[in-house]
Parts: sequence; structure tokens; C-alpha cells
Amino acid sequence: ERGGYAHFMLKEIMEQPDVWGDCLLGRTEGDRVVVEELGLTETQLEQVRRIQVVAAGTAYHAGLIGKALIERLARIPVDVAVASEFRYQDPVLQRGTLVMAVSQSGETADTLACINLARQQGMPTYALVNTVGSTIARESDAVVYTHAGPEIAVASTKAYTTQILVLTLLALALADVHGRPRPDLVRSLLTLPKMGADILAEMEHIEDMASRLSTNRDVFYIGRGLDYALAMEGQLKIKEIAYIHAEAYAAGELKHGTLALIEDGTPIVAIVTEDSVAEKSISNILEVKARGAEVWAIVDDRLKTRVPVDHLIPIRVPNALLAPALAALPLQMLAYWTAVKCGQDVDQPRNLAKSVTVE
Ligand code: M6R
Repeated sequence: ERGGYAHFMLKEIMEQPDVWGDCLLGRTEGDRVVVEELGLTETQLEQVRRIQVVAAGTAYHAGLIGKALIERLARIPVDVAVASEFRYQDPVLQRGTLVMAVSQSGETADTLACINLARQQGMPTYALVNTVGSTIARESDAVVYTHAGPEIAVASTKAYTTQILVLTLLALALADVHGRPRPDLVRSLLTLPKMGADILAEMEHIEDMASRLSTNRDVFYIGRGLDYALAMEGQLKIKEIAYIHAEAYAAGELKHGTLALIEDGTPIVAIVTEDSVAEKSISNILEVKARGAEVWAIVDDRLKTRVPVDHLIPIRVPNALLAPALAALPLQMLAYWTAVKCGQDVDQPRNLAKSVTVE
């Protein structure tokens, strides 16, 4: 049932190009997003003034990508909250806010509690989930599915990238309805399955890079903008399955304290796909290199000659806004192979459950 793969996680990583195809299927027409496919009407989209995302773990990280995309493309403000915090913070919800749960299982207790809280306050609720008919899907006013198929490995991979794709569709639909159409991005979105397959076909070198990473006990993940949101997901993945302590940092924030920890051999995973801030990220990489850091870097192919690192993972991306799902692939692979090299139980990490249905 693992389809010849050693672990469900590897199978689920490799499935992503196909699953992305399923997720996007029928959801665009020409160079527009089919709004009804998102479970909302055009009028509902027009009425959205603000979005409050509630989620946990990887789904929270997908929410952060969604925030950047929706804000930049549609100019609609988005707040993203960790569900276990949101539910107890007496949140302020104003009219015109759509409360959106992001969840693979659709059963996460804290995320469900946030949806119930929003409903009690009369707010419209929207679920972005993978599991059809799950509790969060049923309890929300509207639902959109990721169509990733069953995800067995505890570490989320294909659910995360399909959440990113659906959030991208939502951002493009909102942008369109709010007078900022991006037909170019709608067309490019459809090329992601093929581009993802190409990236996965060139991943042999990652195993050696992971061997080297696996000898460390602590690692930093750095990036700016979308790359920072990706760094947060990258660090969670390596903690979760390789049991290596990891921290994500906004690259520009290092100087405000954490740079003191960088010394000879400190491992850093850097992500550089956001062209608008690439120069800034590159200078942050130079700063850590100057202090002796060993750097693994996932970079937009066009920037690869500019990034002087120890372990380079170049990826081709059509546009910085569409890079996250693609850049997630080497991050997942790096975590996977590091966990394998550390000899850990990749699919069933200690202390964790696939679905957190109790607090
Ligand atoms: O089912 P959900 O998406 O609501 O689950 C949320 C988190 O528990 C989940 O993403 C968790 O962080 C993953 N194990 C990370 O790989």
C-alpha cells in the first residue's frame, strides 16, 4: 500500500505533482478561477473585507502563505492565528470578516473550537479541509476541499502543498472580484504539476546533503516574506521526524540577537525564491557565512550563481508568488532523508498523533 516506497511520507511527497493536478482540476476556466469551485459565490467574495485564518501546525504555516498571497494579490487584510491561542483570547471579530479554518483532517479540536466560537458570534465560516465530510467541513458555512487523498504519514506534505494551491486559487479569485485580475498567474498555476515533477526528478543529491545535516543537533531556517513562511514549515518538519531542534528566523531579524549564536559550522537552511527581497536575503547569507555557518540553500534557479553556499538546491519557479509549493518539495525531502539518516520512525514520530482531536 506504500506503492513500493519505504515510507508513506516518501510516497506522499512523490505523489504531489499528480495530487496538485487533482486539486486544480476544473477549478480554472481559461485564465480565470471558477469561483463556485471554491465553495463560495461571487457575491460572498465581494463582501469579504478581512479574513481570519485559524489553524494548527502545518496548516497554520499554509495560512501564512495564504495571507501573503491574498494581501498582495487582492489587497484584502488577512490575520492568521494559532487555533489553540485564538480560542482563548477573546478575539475581536468585525463585520465583513470571513473566519477560515485550514485543516487536513478537519478534526483538530482547537481549530473546530475556533469555528464554533466564530459561529456563536454570527460570523461567516469557511473550511479549507482535506477530509471530505469531516467535522470542521460539516460545521462551517462553506467548504473547499484540497483533494489530496488520504494522508497517512504523521508529517504533513501533500496536504500542505494543496492547501497552498487552494489558497492561491482563493487569492486569485478575490483579486479578480476586487478588480485586480491576474490571468498570467492563473495560467502559470496550471504548470505547477509539471514543474513539481521536474523538481522531484532531480532530488538524488538531497540524500547526501541530508546525511551531512543529520550530524547536527540544532539548525536554523531563514528566509524573508514567503520564504520565511516556508522556513517555518521546514523547521517543523525536521523537528517532527528527525528530532533535530530547529528554529525559523526572518532573515532580517537575525541581527537583533540570534546572530550571536552563529559560529563555525552552525547549520543554516536558507530559502531564496522571493525575487523582491532576494538581494536582502543574499546579504544575510553572506553575513552568516562570514561567521562560519554551513549553509544549505533552496534558491530560484535564476539566482543560483549569486548565492555562495555549501549545499545548493536550485529550483525552477514560474513566479515568486507561485514558488512556495515548489520550494516545499526539497524542504520535505531534506527533512525526510535527514530523519532516515538519523534512523527515526519517519511515518510514526514519537509523541505525535496524525489527528489532534483532544486538547
Ligand atoms: O489535521 P490538521 O491539518 O488540522 O492538523 C494540524 C496539525 O496537527 C498538523 O498539521 C501537524 O502540525 C502535522 N503533523 C505537521 O506535519
